Amino acid sequence: MDPDRVLIFDTTLRDGEQSPGISLNTAEKLEIAHQLARLGVDVIEAGFPIASPGDFQAVQAIAREVHGPVIAGLARAHAADVDRAWEAVRDAERPRIHTFLSTSDIHIEHQLQSTREDVKGQARAAVAHAKALCEDVEFSPMDATRADVEFTAEVLRIAIDEGATTINVPDTVGYTMPDEYVAFLRSLYDLVPGLADVVLSVHCHDDLGLAVANSYAGIQAGARQVECAINGIGERAGNASLEEIVMLLHTRGEAVSLTTDVVTRELARTSRLVSRLTGYVVQPNKAIVGRNAFAHESGIHQDGVLKERSTYEIMDATTVGLDANSLVLGKHSGRHALREALQELGFAVDGQALNTAFKRFKEIADKKKQVSAMDLEALVTDELRDELRAYTLSWFDVEASSRRPPHATVELVTPDGETVRGDFTGDGPVDAIFRAINAATRREARLREFRIDSVTGGQDALGEASVVLEVAGQSAGGQGVSTDIIEAAALAYVRALSNAERRVAAAAASAEEATTADPQLTPTP
Ligand code: KIV
Ligand code: ZN
Repeated sequence: MDPDRVLIFDTTLRDGEQSPGISLNTAEKLEIAHQLARLGVDVIEAGFPIASPGDFQAVQAIAREVHGPVIAGLARAHAADVDRAWEAVRDAERPRIHTFLSTSDIHIEHQLQSTREDVKGQARAAVAHAKALCEDVEFSPMDATRADVEFTAEVLRIAIDEGATTINVPDTVGYTMPDEYVAFLRSLYDLVPGLADVVLSVHCHDDLGLAVANSYAGIQAGARQVECAINGIGERAGNASLEEIVMLLHTRGEAVSLTTDVVTRELARTSRLVSRLTGYVVQPNKAIVGRNAFAHESGIHQDGVLKERSTYEIMDATTVGLDANSLVLGKHSGRHALREALQELGFAVDGQALNTAFKRFKEIADKKKQVSAMDLEALVTDELRDELRAYTLSWFDVEASSRRPPHATVELVTPDGETVRGDFTGDGPVDAIFRAINAATRREARLREFRIDSVTGGQDALGEASVVLEVAGQSAGGQGVSTDIIEAAALAYVRALSNAERRVAAAAASAEEATTADPQLTPTP
C-alpha cells in the first residue's frame, strides 16, 4: 500500500446509526451506502449484524449490492457475533469482519465482569475464528485510550498473531488529547513489533471536541486508516467528521503530504443525504458542509473575497460540491428529463420507482414554478422512507382559526391493512393532527422532537419535517416532505410511529432471545 495514502473507513451506518432517534430502513441504508461508494470511501462499516434482523438484512443487502469499498460488519468477540457478521458480509466483493473487545480495566471489571486473562483468551478465539472465515479481519481494543498500554499491547500481539490485518485503537469515550494519543500509539509501535506490518487505524469520539484533532494526531503517529462518519454523527457527541478529515488532508496537502481517494465534490451531497435520512440537522456553521461554511457576512470580508477569493477563503466551495444546484425542471418537463436529472444527481431510478417519482414531481411542479436539484433530492429520499409494513396516511382535514381551537381528522391504513380514523382538537394545527394520529392508531406515542425546515429558499419552497417519538420506551425518528407543512409534519409523524413500533417489536424479540442466551451478549457495542 502507498505509505502516503490514508484509508477512509466510514462508520455512518454503524456508529452513526447508534445515535438516538436514528432509525434507517434497508432502502435508506442502501442509498447512503451507494452514495458513500460514489464518494470514494475505502471501507463502509455497514452495521452490527447480530443487533437485530433488520441490521443483518441491511448489511447483507449492502454487501450484495454496493461495489467498490470493502464492506465491514461489526462483531463482539463472541463466536455467534462473528458468525452472524460473516453471514452478512460474505457476499461482498471485499468483505471484512471487525471484532472488538475492551482492554481497559474499567470495562473489564464493570462491564464485562471478567479478567485480563479471559480478555486475552477471548480476543485470541474471536480473531482466530474470524480469520478462519474471512481474510480481512480488523480488531479493536475498545476503550484503549483509558487502558494500560502494556496490557493493550499484549492483546494486540495476540490479535496480530491470529491474523488481524487492521488494528484499530479507539478513543471510545472521547477522553484522550492529541499529544497523549500520539504517545500511546508510539508506545504500541514499540511494544508490538507486528504493528508495523498491519494497518493501524484510529477511531475517535468527540466528547471533548477533539475527535478530528486526535484522528489527525493518530495519522501523524503512523495510522493509515481513519474511522469517521458523515456530519460527525455517532454515539453521544459523535465520531470524527469524515468531511473535516478529508478536507484537512486535501487543503493542507502540501504540509502533510498525505492523500485520500475521496471525491471531494461529493461531500456536500453526501452530507445532505445523511442529514435528511437521519433527521440530524447540520449546524449552519459546521466546518465544510454547514450552510454558512462559505458565507461571508462582514463587509470587509465580502470586499476582500470579491477582489480575490483567497483573501478569506482557504477552500473553494465547488471543491466540496456546494455549487451543484443549478439543475432546474418545470411543470412541462417529461419523464425522460426527470430520469436524466435524477441520474445527474446520482439516483438510478427506473420502472415503478420512476413512475412514483414522476407522479410526485408533477404534483410538486404544479404548485412550484421551478423544481431544483435540492427539491429532487428531497423528493427521491422521501420515497425511500416508505416501508412495506408501516402506517400510511390516506388523507387529513385540519381546521385552523385564531378564534377556535384547531381540529384535525385523519384516516390511516395500519401495517395490517386496516383503515382507521381519528380526530382531535389540539393546541395548534400540528398538535391536533399528531394527536388525531394517536387517536386513530390508539398508540401512546410521546413527541420528543419536532422540526420544520424548508428545502430551498422562496415562498413556494418544499417543507421538510422531522419528528422523534417515544413509544413504550423506544425512540425513533421519521421525516416527511411536502409543499404543505402540515402534511409534511403528518407524514413525518406516521413514519416515526412505524419506526418506533418496529423497534418495540425488535426489542421484545431480543429480550425473549436474551433469556436463553449468554448474559454477556448485550445488544449494542
Ligand atoms: O467507540 C468504539 O470503541 C467503537 C468500537 C466498536 C470500535 O465504536
Ligand atoms: Zn465508536
